[in-house]
Amino acid sequence: MNNLFIVGSMNIDLIFSAKRIPKVGETMQSDSFDMLSGGKGANQAVASALLNTSSYMIGNVGDDLFGKIILDELKNRMVITDYINVSKKTSSGVACILLSDEDNRIILDQGANAKTSFSQVNKVLSKIAKKNDVFLAQLEVPVETVKKSLEKAKNLGLKTILNPAPAQVLPEEIYKYVDIIIPNEIEAEMITGINSNSIHFNKHVVDYFINKGVKEVIITRGCNGSVYGDSHGLIMIRPFKVKVVDTTGAGDAFVGAIASKVASGSSVKESLTFATAASALAVTKFGAQASMPNLKDIEDFLSRKLE
Ligand code: RIB
Repeated sequence: MNNLFIVGSMNIDLIFSAKRIPKVGETMQSDSFDMLSGGKGANQAVASALLNTSSYMIGNVGDDLFGKIILDELKNRMVITDYINVSKKTSSGVACILLSDEDNRIILDQGANAKTSFSQVNKVLSKIAKKNDVFLAQLEVPVETVKKSLEKAKNLGLKTILNPAPAQVLPEEIYKYVDIIIPNEIEAEMITGINSNSIHFNKHVVDYFINKGVKEVIITRGCNGSVYGDSHGLIMIRPFKVKVVDTTGAGDAFVGAIASKVASGSSVKESLTFATAASALAVTKFGAQASMPNLKDIEDFLSRKLE
């Protein structure tokens, strides 16, 4: 099994659950409140570590209570935390999540995540990364750090995965360092400018990324499954039907599962059903990291669903 290096965010999620989202200017009571570890980077690191992948988290937490909680939770979930910095006089990343019956909305304060630098990543990759290891990043840390880290990883012969979330305009040069890109539909629309209601949306998005140098594209579509594309064409992946409790972190479960499978030597195509099962299981439980399935959960689920 090859190693997986994750450069990304670690947050504390402050989750307010209510029947609906407050209107503009309205104050309303929530039905419940929870405080859990989150952050797209950390969630993906947990998702892959629970699948028995050696998952090295690279990033920053603040020197506050939240930072301690984040580190403890990652250690408990088997993530390798040796390369996480504790930034002095900085608060940890925080996400305020409004969870309603229909969906969720998130507002973030980057905090220490903004301090994640290329020199921090460079030291770790230069010291321990080897050919065919996997590198994974999202966009909750500075995009310049992500770009230079992808370039370094690619030059060292690692397989590189970018989950461009939350969406933002990306520097053109970034794409030649990305082997696999995994946006959701909204991110794909925002990055490419292609209308997600257009008939050939999936094909056009895949072509957009392939023409820029990416080798494989997965567009995740929530309860509609996902679409895989490469230079040979498209494959539609159907979702599994499950009872939805909380969709927070479902995309992270999917991305973490793909990264874990690729690290174990599987192709992306071979990993799609497995990752779809991981995200299906993640939505059946509350929270992001708290809802990530382990290998046995996914294998049992697949044997029930595919028998
Ligand atoms: O993808 C879900 C995550 O997005 C949450 O855990 C929150 O921290 C935000 O980063």
